[in-house]
Amino acid sequence: MAKARIAVIGAGLMGHGIAWRLAAAGHEVTVQDPSAEALGALAARLGEICDLLGAGRAALKRVSASADLAEAVSGADFVFEAAPEKLELKQALFERLEVHAPPGAILCSNTSAIPISGISARTRNRDRVVGSHFWNPPHLVDLVEIVLMGEANRPAGEKVAALLRGAGAYPVFVNRDIPGFIGNRLQHALKREAIALVAAGVCDAESIDDVVKHGFGARMAVLGPLEQSDLVGLDLTRAIHDTLMGDLDVTARTHPYLEDLVARGDLGMKTGKGFRRWTSQQAEAVRTRLRDFLVAAARKK
Ligand SMILES: NC(=O)c1ccc[n+]([C@@H]2O[C@H](COP(=O)([O-])OP(=O)(O)OC[C@H]3O[C@@H](n4cnc5c(N)ncnc54)[C@H](O)[C@@H]3O)[C@@H](O)[C@H]2O)c1
Repeated sequence: MAKARIAVIGAGLMGHGIAWRLAAAGHEVTVQDPSAEALGALAARLGEICDLLGAGRAALKRVSASADLAEAVSGADFVFEAAPEKLELKQALFERLEVHAPPGAILCSNTSAIPISGISARTRNRDRVVGSHFWNPPHLVDLVEIVLMGEANRPAGEKVAALLRGAGAYPVFVNRDIPGFIGNRLQHALKREAIALVAAGVCDAESIDDVVKHGFGARMAVLGPLEQSDLVGLDLTRAIHDTLMGDLDVTARTHPYLEDLVARGDLGMKTGKGFRRWTSQQAEAVRTRLRDFLVAAARKK
């Protein structure tokens, strides 16, 4: 793809990784953030990614930083918003993006779960607004969900998908603007059952994680759930569903077990206890294990 001019709004965890991926693919990237601290840390954070992936520093020359939104987006072909997950803030940002970005620029939001129709509520031309849901860390995980509000913004989505494919990402279209898109709906459907099993005393949280990591999770990177159903046969899948479906958890709200943990201040690794207990060394070992796994997979590509 021809070299594009990209603006990334927000220099945080997601923004700097998105900027790196697109700059590494040869595009000119301007990262905007109102926080001097975030902008000041940008070069070092991008440098860390280069080191992690054994990449040279050439991509860094294509990234510039700005505190000024109008300046950052004035010549952009694509804008990727990765500001905090607050509806009002994103609505105000998209209202300004429409004014300051060129009329042909495509405006993308990296929101985790807010419907794109809400984020674009104050923009006049919503055909050029799409969701571009990168996963963390965006420089190591390839999936990007391209979220459409309808067929009218498919052409914009196709252009974003082409840009991202050229940057080694793996775009998948979400044809309806629903909360959580595809990936988070699947993840949290699994978590609903996991929490219900622990709450009912069927097993402890460690057993849940073991069953996933040492069982079906071990094959999931190469075999999706519907592919797996086709592999074993839908007659078998049907038979299992006939027995199981009526027994699965259907709590249609946050499970009280999770609410109680949060109310007690048991927030996970950062407080030393969540579903499981964590020393700071154990928590660090999990972070290292995850990073090493993702880096090894990225280096193999
Ligand atoms: N963290 C994740 O795992 C993850 C995964 C997928 C999607 N997301 C989504 O990506 C978005 C960004 O998340 P993050 O984890 O990078 O957050 P973050 O807090 O690390 O970064 C947000 C950045 O936005 C900046 N910011 C604040 N107000 C701004 C404004 N008005 N204009 C521009 N920048 C502003 C902040 O200074 C900060 O640097 C959110 O919508 C989040 O839900 C996060």
